[in-house]
Amino acid sequence: MSANIAEMELRRAASMLGGGQKRIDAQHARGKLTARERVGILLDEGSFEEIDAYVEHNCVDFGMPENTIPGDGVVTGSGTINGRLVFVFSQDFTVIGGAVSERHAMKICKVMDMAMKVGAPVIGINDSGGARIQEGVASLGGYAEIFQRNVLASGVVPQLSLIMGPCAGGAVYSPAMTDFIFMVKDTSYMFVTGPEVVRTVTNEIVTQEELGGAVTHTTKTSVADLALENDIEALLMVREFFDFLPLSNRSEVPARPSSDPWDRAEASLDTVIPASATQPYDMHEVVRKVLDEGDFFEVQPAHAGNILCGFGRIEGRTVGVVANQPMVLAGCLDINSSKKAARFVRFCDAFSIPIITFVDVPGFLPGTSQEHNGIIKHGAKLLFAYAEATVPKITVITRKAYGGAYDVMASKHLRGDLNYAWPTAEIAVMGAKGAVEIIFRGLSAEEQAEKTREYEDRFANPFVAASKGFIDEVIYPHATRRRIALGLRKLRNKSLENPWKKHDNIPL
Ligand code: HXC
Repeated sequence: MSANIAEMELRRAASMLGGGQKRIDAQHARGKLTARERVGILLDEGSFEEIDAYVEHNCVDFGMPENTIPGDGVVTGSGTINGRLVFVFSQDFTVIGGAVSERHAMKICKVMDMAMKVGAPVIGINDSGGARIQEGVASLGGYAEIFQRNVLASGVVPQLSLIMGPCAGGAVYSPAMTDFIFMVKDTSYMFVTGPEVVRTVTNEIVTQEELGGAVTHTTKTSVADLALENDIEALLMVREFFDFLPLSNRSEVPARPSSDPWDRAEASLDTVIPASATQPYDMHEVVRKVLDEGDFFEVQPAHAGNILCGFGRIEGRTVGVVANQPMVLAGCLDINSSKKAARFVRFCDAFSIPIITFVDVPGFLPGTSQEHNGIIKHGAKLLFAYAEATVPKITVITRKAYGGAYDVMASKHLRGDLNYAWPTAEIAVMGAKGAVEIIFRGLSAEEQAEKTREYEDRFANPFVAASKGFIDEVIYPHATRRRIALGLRKLRNKSLENPWKKHDNIPL
């Protein structure tokens, strides 16, 4: 018996060592943690239960039988984050560059299948040279098996990706299909073709970091949500983020005790809107003052800053927040902000997370760049996402709600459940000056000024919309948190179903 245990311990130790001490040292020298160290930080201490530590590749070509390491370059299993179940895979760059073999892919698929069966999220840590070149099509098949599972799991269990090393070629498409991507600055990159190929084909000289590093993907492309300084910061951020997420589309949103009074009045909100309609203010302040303990976990903060998306809590329960940001592009909707918010709204809807929308939007951003790049199709994404969402939807118009953007931003007409406006709200087809220039074109400047005042008096308020029932109530800004909390209580058992369909056809 003791000999058997000794054998098991020997084999286990070999698996634990991955590609060996030299390669572990090289990983550390680059400022990267090993696959197991990452899992250790991500999960609650001692909670990780590994599976498939003895799996080996089955490749017989190019001398591979002599290059066999138990575990085959990926550490898989399950554990907990603050006590809640999660499945993980963590690619081990020290083992053949974390390259994906058929068996390596099979291990990832196994945890994904288990996560789907029991209803728990999957977190993937990516650090890999891509398809294991010696295995050829077997490796490509393995990738496709993972892709297929990413798609089937989408909307069933949350899927999070951490990019902590190379992720290139077709391999990028697995994280790309997950719900959120966190990247580490300087040590991770994602691109379909690398700098060498780019140089050969287009003559462009570009570094890995410029082409597909964390900053590029969190500012320009929006492929990733957050760029973190190092592995530890990224892993701890995922732990914090995970706490907001339901385990699956069958679970309720997580709830935890909150010491923040549900009816806390926030007097400063009564004066947050500047006297001039063209003066911006920071919508972050409004959002933070309404949420429990001011805790707002923003996603994609560095991309499309004209809209804020993120998670918070009211009475300890997760809510998704979408808010126009007057500090950036005056809060206009444009292509990037529409895409960003649409995907966020759809995530919330898929996982039954109520959506709180703060509106201060002067309309869609004008310009040939917007029109020629498809603002029609992209703007429609956000409209579509809000309109199809059946989760509780509470909307607060703080200031402007003009034109089509009024309709889009979770209006009553898109099945908004509770639509509130502050007394400072202005709900109209457009701003007064623009409106008068169109409908009173022939008038003198003085006459137009008079008409502008008239238009403002008539429409620069929430009461016309309220008189039609499009706004349920004009509320004191200081009472916003209380009204939202009461609304969410009321809507907890909301039941609304869209007509049966195979799936919809959102304008992609
Ligand atoms: C087999 C690989 C490998 C791969 C790395 N290695 N990538 N082995 N298949 N894809 C091995 C290396 O041979 C090396 O082994 C060890 O991993 C570490 O790699 P290094 O090159 O020493 O590391 P580094 O200098 O940091 O460079 C990392 C790298 C580079 C940039 C990822 O290894 C690289 O360019 N690899 C090839 C990337 C690639 O072309 N992959 C296929 C892409 S196509 P030794 O024994 O020397 O330590 C693809 C398609 C997916 O992925 C399709 C899905 C649909």
